[in-house]
Amino acid sequence: MKPRDRLRIAMQKSGRLTEPALELLNRCGLSFRQSRDKLFCFGEGEPVDLLLVRDDDIPGLIAQGVCDLGIVGRNVLNEYQLTAGLDAAPLSEWRPLGFGRCRLSIAVPQELDYQQPKQLAGTRIATSYPGLLGQWLRGHGIEAGVVTLAGSVEIAPRLGTADAICDLVQSGGTLVANQLREAEVLLESEAVLAGPQVLPTDERGDMIELLLKRLDGVIQVRE
Ligand code: PRP
Ligand code: ZN
Ligand code: MG
Repeated sequence: MKPRDRLRIAMQKSGRLTEPALELLNRCGLSFRQSRDKLFCFGEGEPVDLLLVRDDDIPGLIAQGVCDLGIVGRNVLNEYQLTAGLDAAPLSEWRPLGFGRCRLSIAVPQELDYQQPKQLAGTRIATSYPGLLGQWLRGHGIEAGVVTLAGSVEIAPRLGTADAICDLVQSGGTLVANQLREAEVLLESEAVLAGPQVLPTDERGDMIELLLKRLDGVIQVRE
């Protein structure tokens, strides 16, 4: 990886985290020149640029050193850490950011009388989070089939391709619309600042420390 003298932050190109993440960075004194439909935004005052990408790609970009920091859901970060493999650079959750709160939950058809995890044994569960779901199933000693889907997971039970699902729940609207209800909460999630476990030793390390200080100030004011 070529050395860089500007810090690069990855964030979601378009989605629920995009607006609040930009607003947070602005409140940290960062402003960017390009419009949001461009993938790269040049930082105006400070030597900090933005990369706008799919949220699922953010942990990998940090691990490869393409980006120094990322604003991403804890669910995406933790899933990456469980599935990336041993030679991937370890990442850290540097700060919880207090927005984009949601839960990763298992949901079952509304008509099912769900009482306990054991009932999931032998079922097929559709999810975009095979790592986190697999960890929970192992933790409960349950053997179930995991059907990995990239999106629209909630439709799987209606299609007959799964008996239950494991996906993010925010308002619960998507579950209701698909006649599902929450059975187990696997993870409480929110947007976090993610980065490498070890700070770069060049100027970027100093810039990250400065940014963290400002971030802590902004987060404190908001609380
Ligand atoms: C997310 C998530 C759920 C839904 C939950 O999907 O995967 O499907 O939002 O939100 P709710 O509880 O408020 O209904 P999103 O709309 O981001 O699309 P995706 O699944 O294609 O990523
Ligand atoms: Zn996504
Ligand atoms: Mg969805």
